[in-house]
Amino acid sequence: MQSTMTRVRNEQDSSVNLAALITKMKDLPPMPVVVMRAMEMCLDPNASIRNLQLVISQDQALSAKILRIVNSAMYSLRREVSTVSHAVAVLGLETVKSVIMAASVDGVLRNAKDLGTKLMSDHSWGTAIAARAVARRVRYENVEEAMICGLMHDIGKPVLLQNLHPQYCEIISGVYGGHGNFHQSELLAFGFSHAHVGAMLARKWNFPQQLAEAVGYHHSPLTAPSFRQLSCIVNLADLMTISMGIGFEKNKDLALEKQPSAEFLKLNQAALAGLITETKLTIKATANLK
Ligand SMILES: [Fe+2]
Ligand SMILES: [Fe+2]
Repeated sequence: MQSTMTRVRNEQDSSVNLAALITKMKDLPPMPVVVMRAMEMCLDPNASIRNLQLVISQDQALSAKILRIVNSAMYSLRREVSTVSHAVAVLGLETVKSVIMAASVDGVLRNAKDLGTKLMSDHSWGTAIAARAVARRVRYENVEEAMICGLMHDIGKPVLLQNLHPQYCEIISGVYGGHGNFHQSELLAFGFSHAHVGAMLARKWNFPQQLAEAVGYHHSPLTAPSFRQLSCIVNLADLMTISMGIGFEKNKDLALEKQPSAEFLKLNQAALAGLITETKLTIKATANLK
């Protein structure tokens, strides 16, 4: 009886803390206009090449980055692509829309001064590439969407870093020193984790429902109510990146094949080893994108 009451009180405490953080989040910068437009285009089935070019032409750095991604080893094109319309002709409109999303969101993660660190963005980029490889392997219907979810999955961490400094710095150094993982340490310290915060931010920024769910459930993918496969892809990609030692959290002894998400996706040890090799090669080939 007493333990039930304690649990209820703790849940109330954590919801109070989370509510306080939501209020504080009003101070966060809004989603950059170019990302918002890119997101609108991704959701609009009638978006044309003209629309795409209009949005991209407003941001020189973004257009350069899009062409670097398109021309990287990730897409294995035979000839160099130098314009966005050429990229659409070669890769298709849907893929180019996703590249725009990836490039613009990645820009937010990398450039926002107080909203991240290099190790966080390395981990996000690694997870994006791993998610793309896993999605392709399991024939997920939208490979690029999985990649964006991988890129965004830990978006809650920089929010916590900004709003709960210095407690979050302590958690980072603990995890970096090999003591526990982010998810459990955050639950212990705050009663909620970066996954909850990330889902809130994704909803605040009006991101698509599947993205908000994959972000919110990336540490408990089998409980995702509507997008379980996508959540499992992101969870597994996250764990692959941790097992490769990319980012603050490292665990080279992680048995990937025993993870519930690997079992759900029916990926055995051999398949996972192949995916790790492929992901490492792509990360190396895209290193010049940073
Ligand atoms: Fe995470
Ligand atoms: Fe992660």
